[in-house]
Amino acid sequence: MSNVPIEPDSSRPVFAIVIVAAGSGERLGYGMPKAKVPLGGEPMLVHALRVAAASGVARKIYVAVPRGDEELRRICAGAAEALPEGSPTVSCVDGGATRSDSVRSVLGQLDAGITAVLVHDAARALTPDSVFHRVAHAIRQGAKAVIPAIPVVDTVKTVASSESADAAVAPEIVVGTTPRERLRAVQTPQGFDLATLREAHHAAGLFTDAQAAAVTDDAMLVESLGIPVHVVPGSAHSLKITTPTDLLIAEALLAGPRAPRWVEG
Ligand code: C5P
Repeated sequence: MSNVPIEPDSSRPVFAIVIVAAGSGERLGYGMPKAKVPLGGEPMLVHALRVAAASGVARKIYVAVPRGDEELRRICAGAAEALPEGSPTVSCVDGGATRSDSVRSVLGQLDAGITAVLVHDAARALTPDSVFHRVAHAIRQGAKAVIPAIPVVDTVKTVASSESADAAVAPEIVVGTTPRERLRAVQTPQGFDLATLREAHHAAGLFTDAQAAAVTDDAMLVESLGIPVHVVPGSAHSLKITTPTDLLIAEALLAGPRAPRWVEG
């Protein structure tokens, strides 16, 4: 993992990719951080790092791993060394207690010269290049914040806990339905002009624990500043591997050479 200085460029953004891999991954039920869980025989982080590097978008990649997890650091270093010549340099840094803390930890360690950041979940280990490219393109076109997203296929409802008499019937009750055509399932990488992301995370650093726990992506923080967040098409291949079923789907995607039967959507 070398540390090549990044030369500032006057006109085009200089991108870093931040891969957040410091989660516990409890929902996957493997008893280990999700980034270590094998996918196609290799840890999930290795796939995420490979696709991020292959996108050709960034000069530098930062990976946030659980503090003190030397094994994942070794996995990260090994994957970085195995990248083809000319790939971005990779730095592995300690993450934090929440996803936002992990992003903030990296923001405090970025090399000078970086002007834009793509924040990517290690759990989205199979994101196609095209998604990285669409997000980076929108940033180059002047957007301060960009997210990839796909249409929602299910009808989504807001619920509340049932009270008294209703609780005997069922634990929750519907309180609203948002029209499906206006809903999107949001993915990563999410792209930001660096100054915008720093401002958003500075504000979030002052949140209470409850507010911090409610932050599930970086775009939310930018939205709360009143800055427009632009939306580009994501991909069905970019699923966040969270449950055992997701892992089965990801294995099938890998096994079927990103297969013709899978239509990118
Ligand atoms: O928990 P969730 O699935 O939403 O996590 C999304 C991503 O954020 C994962 O890649 C996970 O490793 C990362 N994360 C992190 N630091 C945390 C919690 C989650 O880097 N403290």
